[in-house]
Amino acid sequence: MKDFVFYNPTKVYFGPDQLPNLPKEILKYGSKVLLVYGGGSIKRIGLYDKIVKLAKDNNITLFELSGVEPNPMYTTVNKGVDICAKEKIDVLLAVGGGSSIDCAKGIAAAAKDESKDVWQIIKRGKEIDEALPIIAIPTTAATGSETDPMAVISNRDTEEKLLLSGPALYPRAAFENPENSYSLPSFQTACGSVDIFNHVVDKYYIVSGSTFDVVRGLQEAVMMAAVKWAPIAVKEPRNYEARANLQWAASLALDGILDGGTYHQTSCHPMEHQLSAYYDITHGLGLAILMPRWLTYILDDHTAPQIYRLGEKVFGVPSGLDTMQGAKEAIDAVANWCYVTLGLKSSLSALGIDGKHFDEMAKKACGGGYIDGPRKLYPEDVKKIYEMSLQEWQKVPVNS
Ligand code: NZQ
Ligand code: ZN
Repeated sequence: MKDFVFYNPTKVYFGPDQLPNLPKEILKYGSKVLLVYGGGSIKRIGLYDKIVKLAKDNNITLFELSGVEPNPMYTTVNKGVDICAKEKIDVLLAVGGGSSIDCAKGIAAAAKDESKDVWQIIKRGKEIDEALPIIAIPTTAATGSETDPMAVISNRDTEEKLLLSGPALYPRAAFENPENSYSLPSFQTACGSVDIFNHVVDKYYIVSGSTFDVVRGLQEAVMMAAVKWAPIAVKEPRNYEARANLQWAASLALDGILDGGTYHQTSCHPMEHQLSAYYDITHGLGLAILMPRWLTYILDDHTAPQIYRLGEKVFGVPSGLDTMQGAKEAIDAVANWCYVTLGLKSSLSALGIDGKHFDEMAKKACGGGYIDGPRKLYPEDVKKIYEMSLQEWQKVPVNS
């Protein structure tokens, strides 16, 4: 088990009646606020009006950056940076999905940097230890951005989607109201739930050896919550228990608690970020397509016991099977959850993606080296996983 430091400063207000606490959290940092949001869902659900009223009643001045796109662009981030400089913004209020929260994080970092350009900061690759304060109100249960220190920003000119991270990017407060996601379309609910699941499976103790039971048990509980409640939220969008379980699972998946003692590596994420960089697809959908192929690719005598355990604990795969057979059933169960239960497409071809960029995407995913994880993945491995993802999902062959 690895030594670790646990640090998470985000204060979470959870539940439907917490929004009146927003002004006091904002006013800790000042009264000039840049409200960052997407294409209008926050207006349709009435959240925008509530925020505007609270601001007015508490002498908070709101400036706005709207139209943040899914897979947010650095150019949009830089527009927010300009507003911060011009209006001397004190605090960022991000309301929406991970894209809006990530955009606000990019703005927060670049506003404090001489360059005033988030892309330059990302390319520098340094941890962000200075940023404007951020408050987040998530409306999706997915990325965990509301309680984590990361943001993912895209550059369509260079077909890159890159990470910005550092302790200054933890939101100072997050207001998690599960009712905010009642209006989320079933496709986004499904994709967000796969994202939650993948955040955990990417750091699950897949290679046998030293494990940390308390963390492994928590990891399994979070994956079980995603697997159980996602189809319920898809069928019953206004089911509070389902939305609440998914909301908290999303935050727990990336707030650091589940990293304790693990060698936290993300295998599917760097591969997926190339898909959304090149083809602007929904992040969770890309993960759904890659994940069963990745598990199949890394399946061997070292990984089979833990993959089988995942199947037993999270999907109810029967005990007592031959280990390799149990692991294959576990992978099929993951695929079945994504493609049958949640109804997501199972191949890249179905999204109109072919192999023409796979060589460069695989190199970029490996960042000039390899992707670490239960098995090291070099560009040739990543390319094979992309190629496996072109075809519709087939049950893992018994003798493969
Ligand atoms: O733009 P609006 O109108 O708000 O519509 C959004 C958007 O079209 C809509 N939506 C959000 N909440 C809604 C809603 N529609 C109806 N009702 C609601 N309550 O959903 C669409 C997708 O929104 P987006 O913010 O893109 O979704 P998500 O939360 O899945 O965020 C995805 C982004 O986060 C990044 C992803 O790569 C992607 O760019 N990630 C961020 C991470 C982080 N910061 O830690 C980690 C993740 O692994 C991930 O990479
Ligand atoms: Zn993710």
